[in-house]
Amino acid sequence: MRKIAPSILSADPLRLKEEIENVASETEILHVDIMDGHFVPNLTFGPHFVKGMRKEFPSLTLDVHLMVDRPEVIMEWYIDSGADWVSFPVEATPHHNRYLMRIKERGKKAGLALNPTTSLCLLEPSLPYVDFVLLLTVNPGFGGQRFIDEGLQKIESLAGIRKEEEKSFLIEVDGGVRKENIKQVFDAGADIAIAGSSVFGSGDSLSNLLKLKETAG
Ligand code: DX5
Ligand code: ZN
Repeated sequence: MRKIAPSILSADPLRLKEEIENVASETEILHVDIMDGHFVPNLTFGPHFVKGMRKEFPSLTLDVHLMVDRPEVIMEWYIDSGADWVSFPVEATPHHNRYLMRIKERGKKAGLALNPTTSLCLLEPSLPYVDFVLLLTVNPGFGGQRFIDEGLQKIESLAGIRKEEEKSFLIEVDGGVRKENIKQVFDAGADIAIAGSSVFGSGDSLSNLLKLKETAG
């Protein structure tokens, strides 16, 4: 599977609906970054934004990426607002299994996110329970950062573990994905590449997305 999920973090916040409409024809999964100013040094969208997106774009898969301390406090607010996929940071709680199950019990896809320097070992006990793993390839908090090259090796290692253990979770790669590296990201084993500034950063977002798709192979 090779899918590109635009991340609205880099979209114009005052033209959000228009920005999403512009890429909707080529978008199945829309990535929504939730930041709390504690786990990461930035603040973004509350559940009412997700509710609004759900209402306007009922057929998009809303991929809600929580970058927050105590994700258990707010994850259900986003599920209630219409999130389809919810991921939270392995670094933010010791109760991975408990919260993965809570998301799955609500009929949603559950994912664990890992910061660039967090070892895959932390993830391994949870692999039987995840629907997807989100590997960050920048230090989370901001769009437009440079891809951390060691990320490619990490994607390959995770894809290797998946194969060895005969698991079927998806691998999402988030941060610094652009046309110069998107093919490598997919070749390393990613299924979904998140693209923020390389879609919404400058120029026409739909042509940016189409060019990325073409390059991705
Ligand atoms: C990073 C966020 C990303 C962000 C990626 O903290 O989790 O989803 O939108 O932006 P780009 O693609 O510009 O690195
Ligand atoms: Zn993200």
